Amino acid sequence: MLLTPIYALLAFTAVHGFTLRTWDQAYALANATVANLTLTEKVGLLAGVGQFSSRCVGNTTPVSRLGLPAICFQDGPAGVRLVKNVTGFPTGINTAATFSRRLMQARGQAMAEEFRAKGAHVLLGPAMDIMRNPKAGRGWESFGPDPYLNGEGAFSTITGIQSVGVQACAKHLVANNQEHWRYGLSALVDDRTMHELYFYPFLRAIEAGVTSIMCAYNQLNGTSSCHNAGLLGPTGLVRSAGFQGYVVSDWGATHDSVADNANAGLDMEQPGDNIVIGGGVFGTGGGNLASAVNGGSVTVARLNQMAARVLAGYYRLGQDSGYPTVNFDAQHSDGSGSLNLHVDVRSAAHTALVREIGGASAVLLKNNRTTTTGTATGVTTRGLPLAAARIKTMAVVGQDALLPNLSCNDLNECNDGTMSIGWGSGSNSLQYIVPPITAIQNFVGTSATIATSLSNDLSAGPAAAKGKDVALVFVNAMSGELGAYDIVVGNMGDRNDLDLWYKGGSLVEAVAAVCNNTIAVIHSVGPVSVSWSAHPNITGIIYAGAPGEQTGPALVDVLYGAVNPSGRLPFSIDEAEASYGTTIVYNSLGFPVVNYTEQLLIDYRYMDSKAITPHYEFGFGLSYTTFTYSALKITSSGTGASSAVVVSFTVANSGSVAGTEIPQLYLAYPTSAGEPKRVLRGFDEVKLAVGASATVTMNLSAREISTWDVRSQAWVRPAGTFTVTVGASIKDVRLTGTF
Ligand SMILES: *[C@@H]1O[C@H](CO)[C@@H](O)[C@H](O)[C@H]1NC(C)=O
Ligand SMILES: *[C@@H]1O[C@H](CO)[C@@H](O)[C@H](O)[C@H]1NC(C)=O
Ligand SMILES: *[C@@H]1O[C@H](CO)[C@@H](O)[C@H](O)[C@H]1NC(C)=O
Ligand SMILES: *[C@@H]1O[C@H](CO)[C@@H](O)[C@H](O)[C@H]1NC(C)=O
Ligand SMILES: *[C@@H]1O[C@H](CO)[C@@H](O)[C@H](O)[C@H]1NC(C)=O
Ligand SMILES: *[C@@H]1O[C@H](CO)[C@@H](O)[C@H](O)[C@H]1NC(C)=O
Ligand SMILES: *[C@@H]1O[C@H](CO)[C@@H](O)[C@H](O)[C@H]1NC(C)=O
Ligand SMILES: *[C@@H]1O[C@H](CO)[C@@H](O)[C@H](O)[C@H]1NC(C)=O
Ligand SMILES: *[C@@H]1O[C@H](CO)[C@@H](O)[C@H](O)[C@H]1NC(C)=O
Ligand SMILES: *[C@@H]1O[C@H](CO)[C@@H](O)[C@H](O)[C@H]1NC(C)=O
Repeated sequence: MLLTPIYALLAFTAVHGFTLRTWDQAYALANATVANLTLTEKVGLLAGVGQFSSRCVGNTTPVSRLGLPAICFQDGPAGVRLVKNVTGFPTGINTAATFSRRLMQARGQAMAEEFRAKGAHVLLGPAMDIMRNPKAGRGWESFGPDPYLNGEGAFSTITGIQSVGVQACAKHLVANNQEHWRYGLSALVDDRTMHELYFYPFLRAIEAGVTSIMCAYNQLNGTSSCHNAGLLGPTGLVRSAGFQGYVVSDWGATHDSVADNANAGLDMEQPGDNIVIGGGVFGTGGGNLASAVNGGSVTVARLNQMAARVLAGYYRLGQDSGYPTVNFDAQHSDGSGSLNLHVDVRSAAHTALVREIGGASAVLLKNNRTTTTGTATGVTTRGLPLAAARIKTMAVVGQDALLPNLSCNDLNECNDGTMSIGWGSGSNSLQYIVPPITAIQNFVGTSATIATSLSNDLSAGPAAAKGKDVALVFVNAMSGELGAYDIVVGNMGDRNDLDLWYKGGSLVEAVAAVCNNTIAVIHSVGPVSVSWSAHPNITGIIYAGAPGEQTGPALVDVLYGAVNPSGRLPFSIDEAEASYGTTIVYNSLGFPVVNYTEQLLIDYRYMDSKAITPHYEFGFGLSYTTFTYSALKITSSGTGASSAVVVSFTVANSGSVAGTEIPQLYLAYPTSAGEPKRVLRGFDEVKLAVGASATVTMNLSAREISTWDVRSQAWVRPAGTFTVTVGASIKDVRLTGTF
């Protein structure tokens, strides 16, 4: 099922010409180098320098006499940002929607190939914050509300990134779950919820051998994440989980004294210079840290440990040999910088991968395909895939089909065209997008006439759509990071509500009122209200998410059936925020305390606990074919920590076109365990020709059938009977068994 990280890394060694070292080998080299560094050189490795003047978004001070370059940290989780001639990759949430470890890893590797070619040492990602609330501004950067899916996304992405010798940075530790008040709110998270939900993806990141972890802006339990010994200290969460790399602060996330941070377990501060939101406590070039060591409030042993951890990441991935030098200037992404070389690091393979992930992450929510013969106009086909030969007139409606303003600003804080990614430091450089209208026009050519209304005007849209064989309506919703400009169309990072922007729902309804073959395409960063979905004239709904630069071609692939949709919802969709079990704290007199009293019950887990039936459930997504499931076999062996459960079953393509099924395994614990009713514990991607079948095997490790026991501080398998359900979504159960 999963390659071990070492095995996976070795597989790429020859191709990318670097030597992967073990942590021991890396530490031997790091220790030797540290022994040869002066105090000034050590602190220069641990404090950012040159924010707004050096080339990368984060930089350390080089040690030229030893050949150590400035370590270059660059955004972000969906590709190299603030640089031209790079690929705009799909978001984390779309990658999650593929439910494909293959594509998760391939995306990580492809992004890292571009970072490496640009000379950046550290890719500031993946993000793995749990989507605690559907409106969370940065939810789209990560892999959704489910810890298992988020953990697999983190593991596979990091394995891919580090396979080409680029350091990954697991972020943001931890409970970084809303943008409002993020610079100081205090999340209160109990120990079990932390281990099973919010920390779980970080645990998987550590298992993937991640070289760095970024501590978050917010406080946890009343103490800033970056000087929280419960998170970072010798017996804190990350070291207890076996983390051997270094902890770097989020940009400006350090507060209080240099000793508070260093002694709590923070290894490196970025970006170093004083910025408005805080930071700079290590001093420019690490000057304050040097003083603290000289004054004795930080020991030399701790300083050496910090430096060795930073260098260990660098040596482990062989960055000491043959690594490209930084060849861009992110501080002058407009081209005005003298170092702005814009080496072209794109490739046909990367473009193809972005398109593949775009198609594989499109979730078909509704499809009423009907073919009518013998009408006055001959054969008509409604629904999806579009019958190219029979569609002579088409309308494309909505601003979201258009090319957006690609030079909006560095943070992509505009939503004036198609929404392919949210805004903020997790966004792409957006040099290049193929918007839906262009891809559709290119595909259709002269085989049909296309009427357009590329705005959300409620009169012009229906006017264009009336009487057409098909109307495609594009609608969207966006969110992002609380940034320098803060508010985008009234939304301060987090979304204000679950509505489509610019009256998108009304636009779909207005078009459906005049066209009996209306297909809605939703580009969104997360769940949105789709109260109109049952309208009889809406024959298809595609939730396309935020798919990156090949958004148009990827959509055409799905619309016309070149790609049979296999995307699945990585969250539940419901109309009411109350169905999700959490809220965003918008209004507060000063930094609020956010008590995670819902504990494990977010998203589908909360809905299950309250018997709420969502509009579209977690894991849901239709296909153009049908699949049958059979022959469930469950073998359970061992006890306690040596437990192993192997689940196997057969999936067959019973329809008339080839397709990919995403079987999912949900586990119901014995009642006494106090777990949510069902939790995701397995998924796979099974590509099947017509009539073909395959045996799928999913292994559950001892930990995956345990709960975190607060008393013994260990994963403990509860006594009793577990129920395994296997199916096409959390509700679409096809097979059930027990062990
Ligand atoms: C699952 O576990 C079985 C038995 O422990 C092992 O033989 C098999 O290789 C494992 N399969 C995967 C895909 O990890
Ligand atoms: C590196 O130095 C630390 C601190 O002295 C030590 O604990 C560790 O064992 C050393 N590692 C190696 C591989 O030499
Ligand atoms: C320390 O660095 C110098 C170069 O500045 C090098 O000549 C020397 O061999 C190094 N010593 C050790 C112990 O690595
Ligand atoms: C946070 O506080 C809760 C409640 O006291 C406790 O269970 C948990 O272990 C604390 N977490 C950390 C990382 O200190
Ligand atoms: C991108 O790379 C091409 C070479 O492939 C080069 O001609 C072009 O100037 C670069 N673009 C920018 C903006 O630097
Ligand atoms: C339309 O399709 C949906 C699912 O895609 C299905 O639930 C519904 O019954 C269909 N309605 C008709 C009239 O076929
Ligand atoms: C695109 O955005 C930039 C920066 O905000 C602005 O200066 C420019 O006028 C915009 N272009 C269009 C066509 O709106
Ligand atoms: C849909 O509308 C078209 C005219 O726009 C009409 O020819 C066709 O019969 C209608 N089909 C259904 C199923 O209502
Ligand atoms: C469906 O579309 C047809 C036009 O094809 C229209 O006459 C009819 O009123 C629409 N139905 C609804 C429920 O809006
Ligand atoms: C947080 O919620 C828990 C569970 O309801 C409660 O026991 C605790 O007192 C609350 N803490 C604060 C500071 O409100």
